[in-house]
Amino acid sequence: MTAWAELHLHLEGTLEPELIFALAERNDVRLPYADLDDLRSRYDFTDLQSFLDLYYTNMQVLRTEQDFADLTDAYLARAQRAGIKRAEVFFDLQAHTARGVAPEVALGGVHRALDAAEERYGISAGLILTFLRHLPAEEATTAYQQVVDSGVPLLGVGLCSTELGYPTEPFAEVFARARADGLRTVAHAGEEGDASYVRLALDVLGVERVDHGVRAVEDDELIERLIAERMPLTMCPLSNVRLKVVPDLAAHPIVGLLRRGVRVTVNSDDPAYFGGYLDDVVAALREAFALSEAEIAQLARNSIEASFASDVEKARLLGEGPGH
Ligand code: ADE
Ligand code: ZN
Repeated sequence: MTAWAELHLHLEGTLEPELIFALAERNDVRLPYADLDDLRSRYDFTDLQSFLDLYYTNMQVLRTEQDFADLTDAYLARAQRAGIKRAEVFFDLQAHTARGVAPEVALGGVHRALDAAEERYGISAGLILTFLRHLPAEEATTAYQQVVDSGVPLLGVGLCSTELGYPTEPFAEVFARARADGLRTVAHAGEEGDASYVRLALDVLGVERVDHGVRAVEDDELIERLIAERMPLTMCPLSNVRLKVVPDLAAHPIVGLLRRGVRVTVNSDDPAYFGGYLDDVVAALREAFALSEAEIAQLARNSIEASFASDVEKARLLGEGPGH
């Protein structure tokens, strides 16, 4: 079976409606929804912000270390069924500490599940701390320090949440610090913001992958640069349809960019909100674009090559190494 890596996945975006209700009951949280259908009726988004409002509201059910472990474990179980062998997952620590959850509670639960991922699901997993762009950069530095103090190992840092109107520059310092500490760097850019946001992620934050990067297509020179630098774009086509970044799947640039030689990867972003996990996204793309088997295989290969796994692990996942 083809091995896939998922490189753009928010753990909190895997919080399924059923789990929201189960955790609300377990933790005695009063939800602002009458029932599951009422909650599901709100999954009709107009843009990124309309989604983020619901996403942050639903997180209030996550309270205990066990809740964070259950959330993470449920994703890993589903990821295994999608054929994922490597998962580099985003976690919005600030969204939890802002609600009064202790950093070691949130991080402890996530870490416990990720630590067991290889043994339980055959998935090699890494954690990327995503800073919230709509909050002051000093709070990103605080979150980074909290992870360092917790002793929970990090693979990298990223940047997400509301893009438009929130400048990149204030985050340069915390990214530089993480890089100096040996961490990998990524950032959401060019999702709702234009191509200039992608350039800033590259030039100001020095990222090694761009998350989304959809609007880079509006800047030919930038596309040439992405090709020359073999810069990965971790794209999320179903997310972009649901958040109206593109009018429909057929209009999504991922396949055109793949055919032009950009190192694009397929990802699910927030699968509980956007209509499916990685296998569902690949199936939707296959249908919308009549993708060839060779193109699907190229997308899978790109995902492994663009991952932050070691060279030995990449070779093994690509079926080239010993122990295959
Ligand atoms: N946080 C969770 N999903 C996100 C997305 N698609 N864009 C920005 N921030 C996010
Ligand atoms: Zn995302």
